[in-house]
Amino acid sequence: MFVPLLLSAAVAAAVPTVIERDSSPVSVNQDAPDTAGAAILHPFVSFSIELAFFPDYAGNLSKPNKFSNQLLDNLGDLQGVKPYLRVGGNTQDLALYDPTLKTSVNGTVVPTVSEDYPYILYIGPSFFESYSTLPGTKFSHGFNMGKNTTAAKESLLATVPLACKALKDGNLMHWEFGNEPDLFSTTTPYPVRPADWSEQDYVDNWLSGTEMIKRKMAKSCPGMALDDIYKFIAPSFAGIGNSLDPVKTWEDGLDSDKDIALNSVHNYMGGADQPGVTLQRTLMNHTAVVNVVAKHANLSHVLSEKGLTREIPYILGEMNSLYHQGKPGLSNSFGAALWGVDFNLYCASQSIRRTHMHQGTDYRYASWQPVQTSKTTIGTKAPYYGNIMVAAMLRGETDSTVQVVNLPMPSETDAAYAAYVDGKLTRIAVINMQEFNYTAAESRPSAKYSFHLPDVPAASLSLQRLMANGSDAITGISWDGWSYNYELKGGAPVRMRNVTIGETVSVGSKGQVELGLPLSSAAILNFI
Ligand SMILES: *[C@@H]1O[C@H](CO)[C@@H](O)[C@H](O)[C@H]1NC(C)=O
Ligand SMILES: *[C@@H]1O[C@H](CO)[C@@H](O)[C@H](O)[C@H]1NC(C)=O
Ligand SMILES: *[C@@H]1O[C@H](CO)[C@@H](O)[C@H](O)[C@H]1NC(C)=O
Ligand SMILES: *[C@@H]1O[C@H](CO)[C@@H](O)[C@H](O)[C@H]1NC(C)=O
Ligand SMILES: *[C@@H]1O[C@H](CO)[C@@H](O)[C@H](O)[C@H]1NC(C)=O
Ligand SMILES: *[C@@H]1O[C@H](CO)[C@@H](O)[C@H](O)[C@H]1NC(C)=O
Ligand SMILES: *[C@@H]1O[C@H](CO)[C@@H](O)[C@H](O)[C@H]1NC(C)=O
Ligand SMILES: *[C@@H]1O[C@H](CO)[C@@H](O)[C@H](O)[C@H]1NC(C)=O
Repeated sequence: MFVPLLLSAAVAAAVPTVIERDSSPVSVNQDAPDTAGAAILHPFVSFSIELAFFPDYAGNLSKPNKFSNQLLDNLGDLQGVKPYLRVGGNTQDLALYDPTLKTSVNGTVVPTVSEDYPYILYIGPSFFESYSTLPGTKFSHGFNMGKNTTAAKESLLATVPLACKALKDGNLMHWEFGNEPDLFSTTTPYPVRPADWSEQDYVDNWLSGTEMIKRKMAKSCPGMALDDIYKFIAPSFAGIGNSLDPVKTWEDGLDSDKDIALNSVHNYMGGADQPGVTLQRTLMNHTAVVNVVAKHANLSHVLSEKGLTREIPYILGEMNSLYHQGKPGLSNSFGAALWGVDFNLYCASQSIRRTHMHQGTDYRYASWQPVQTSKTTIGTKAPYYGNIMVAAMLRGETDSTVQVVNLPMPSETDAAYAAYVDGKLTRIAVINMQEFNYTAAESRPSAKYSFHLPDVPAASLSLQRLMANGSDAITGISWDGWSYNYELKGGAPVRMRNVTIGETVSVGSKGQVELGLPLSSAAILNFI
């Protein structure tokens, strides 16, 4: 239950320290500068759902998952378009079709491979019902490329009519064939391709597979096999620098059939079990974000310089904080939500046009747990609140351009962004990523930020905050005073009475604007 106070006791009692710093105001143009990223795709905030867990996330026709739908609707209301869902991941290349299966999935975990997802996996006819339970959402369905026996090929072909019928009513984003094939020949303990599997081998395999799927689709769903509609996200590489080089892959003719709609690559900041990974060093660190995203921006640039991707938008088709499904205490904390805001807005500023944050049942980095299990309580998790703030920042109608500029900040624990809608300054986001552990510390200092907005017509701006007790909080998080927690109204927004809302910031006569952020928090200044 809520404590009906205006401010929490701790905030009211302590006189917060204000951290002074080199605070020469950051100038922000009224019109979008040349340094702005390319217009984002609508929707920008999107998700990737591990295929074996898609029925948990979406439910089925007799029991649709209303909680997931509510959380997706919240994001749609904020950003203008409901998130798209890419259904895929490791289990996409493990799934075999069993027409006699009475349940949507039959998965068996093999602990030597992973405790987190099934290594032996069958999907049944009812799996495809899950594409009809989230109204207004578009999907990509991931076909299995990894398994490559005669039986697997028959299984793949048997799913084509089911998938195309499930996605023929305006709910198809694009198709996908194969997840992270750049790890096929190196994945342990069971590689699915020979060690010398080359870019050309992959391309030949991808082309023959996608052509085979198309022939089958032409029979079962003729309208879906038309050239304008039959499109893929590809190559869905795990990253840059694995066994297949993305540039060589495109040079070797990946897009020979001109059926790639989005150039999709994956990203993680590091691994959950990697030594030295901490919240402050690995996630709440703008330099780390810049370094990781630079590799994608460079690849995108090289591909377009070489004329290889026909202006195909570059997206992150699967991403999240730490691979191996996240690290407890890091990936599920409010600090990870702040990282998510910085990472996603930085991507938008670098012309990465959409991101799909990866989700799975019981995954530590998940934005929400869609069902109750013995390991995890059903509920809205901290990273979701980061998704919410990104959606609010990137709001735009489908026919409007939304562009993002990264504003320079003095420290690697600060980040700021300006959003331009149809070329005009509309919002500024500021993120403080100095780790504040509320379980250890007493009073919470604030950091001061100042901006110079030469031509802003307004006398005051409204301020919305992303807030929690500290970077280590895993609950009690709010956006502009709203909670989206499951236990309140099934994920529908509920106003919290213990959080300050309705703040404004005045604009000085020369366009100066100042705001304070408690450490480990973020805010958006709204211009209209
Ligand atoms: C639909 O979902 C419910 C709840 O998870 C489950 O009990 C039921 O078996 C599912 N139906 C099918 C056909 O998979
Ligand atoms: C599920 O898969 C396991 C492992 O392959 C198998 O032993 C079991 O019979 C399957 N269950 C059903 C209901 O098909
Ligand atoms: C299976 O792998 C081989 C070797 O890379 C490839 O030539 C063949 O096209 C693949 N078959 C399918 C159905 O993907
Ligand atoms: C932030 O990340 C950069 C690049 O990985 C690293 O050099 C730096 O030490 C990190 N900062 C902190 C405070 O850990
Ligand atoms: C940019 O990408 C190209 C092609 O993959 C690579 O050769 C080059 O080293 C990259 N540059 C940087 C700065 O990462
Ligand atoms: C916050 O807690 C984490 C984990 O206990 C610890 O590693 C970190 O140093 C703490 N940070 C601060 C600023 O106390
Ligand atoms: C956050 O701090 C307030 C004030 O100290 C406290 O009442 C509340 O329980 C805390 N929330 C969480 C999730 O710990
Ligand atoms: C507001 O109340 C909720 C629910 O009791 C709690 O989780 C949260 O931490 C509180 N927030 C503050 C700022 O005290």
